[in-house]
Amino acid sequence: MPSSRSPKDFFRPLAVGAPQPLREIPARPSRAIHFFDPSNEKMAAKVPQLVGTVDVLLGNLEDAVKADNKVAAREGLVRIASGTDFGPTQLWTRINALDSPWVLDDLTTLVPAIGDKLDVVMVPKVQGAEDIAYVDRLLAQLEARAGLDRPILVHAILETARGVANVEEICGASPRMQGLSLGPADLAADRRMKTTRVGGGHPGYLVREDPRRTSDGVESNDRATYQQDLWHYTIARMVDACAMHGISPYYGPFGDIGDPVACEDQFRNAFLLGCVGAWSLHPTQIPIAHRVFSPSVEDIRHARRVVAALQRDGGDGTGAVMLDGKMEDDASLKQCLVLVELAEQLSA
Ligand code: GLV
Ligand code: MG
Repeated sequence: MPSSRSPKDFFRPLAVGAPQPLREIPARPSRAIHFFDPSNEKMAAKVPQLVGTVDVLLGNLEDAVKADNKVAAREGLVRIASGTDFGPTQLWTRINALDSPWVLDDLTTLVPAIGDKLDVVMVPKVQGAEDIAYVDRLLAQLEARAGLDRPILVHAILETARGVANVEEICGASPRMQGLSLGPADLAADRRMKTTRVGGGHPGYLVREDPRRTSDGVESNDRATYQQDLWHYTIARMVDACAMHGISPYYGPFGDIGDPVACEDQFRNAFLLGCVGAWSLHPTQIPIAHRVFSPSVEDIRHARRVVAALQRDGGDGTGAVMLDGKMEDDASLKQCLVLVELAEQLSA
């Protein structure tokens, strides 16, 4: 996390669209963001056992916490954070939405009490840069008052149609921006999609193979169908916006806990498209996310071979070489370096 910048650096006039100072956010692995409800005593009691086994623990204050439990969740998070040494595991929270009656108390309670332990505040239902500017300013004031010397970063959930339309400006709205997550459940509702799931595919969203003619010219009804990815467009937009601003994109939740295979497929699509991690709603999803969002041994081996081939004999990585019958050049070198760098960050 940035250590050389004081909260004062973040307390400045913010003009949307104006050039932002360079971020110094070192890449730390956050392949699995594991959600827990701090108002749920059974769940809260397991938090210390999860430290060190997951990249991020996130105390959730928003949806899935009953309105009557909002205060208990906030207080529970303060208690857990104060009494736990998180070691290598990051601590994040998801605050309530900016138009809810709870969010002001969320931030004014958490920052003075546990701001020194909080790495990232996840903001739900972000609509545009103005939402991030508001959180940025409020955090700056609260950090300054609490004497914190490490800025808390901000992560936005992309879960409204307006948020998707404004995704580029959201990513660039503050140097605190750490990343974005897809929020497929709220986004589906906001778009008036006809689904009832939390992430994943849908058996009705498919394409059917063209009719095939048999040798005597009869059309066969035996046609394959292929399920399509409902989230491809949004993930691709999110990944481009994040890449443009140097922050990290994440797949969000996969609600069907009992279907680890589909969960893994959905996470892998997101990984291949550029995402760095996903949410975990149940401890069984932690190893899935850690595995999927880490490059495989074979991928790393191949990437290292390409890098070595293009840099062999003093090569500077430009030009082209043939490897296993395939042409590799400057652009394949760059792709391979993405995998090699990720492998190095994860093993650091
Ligand atoms: C997550 O918050 C979602 O709405 O999918
Ligand atoms: Mg949501």
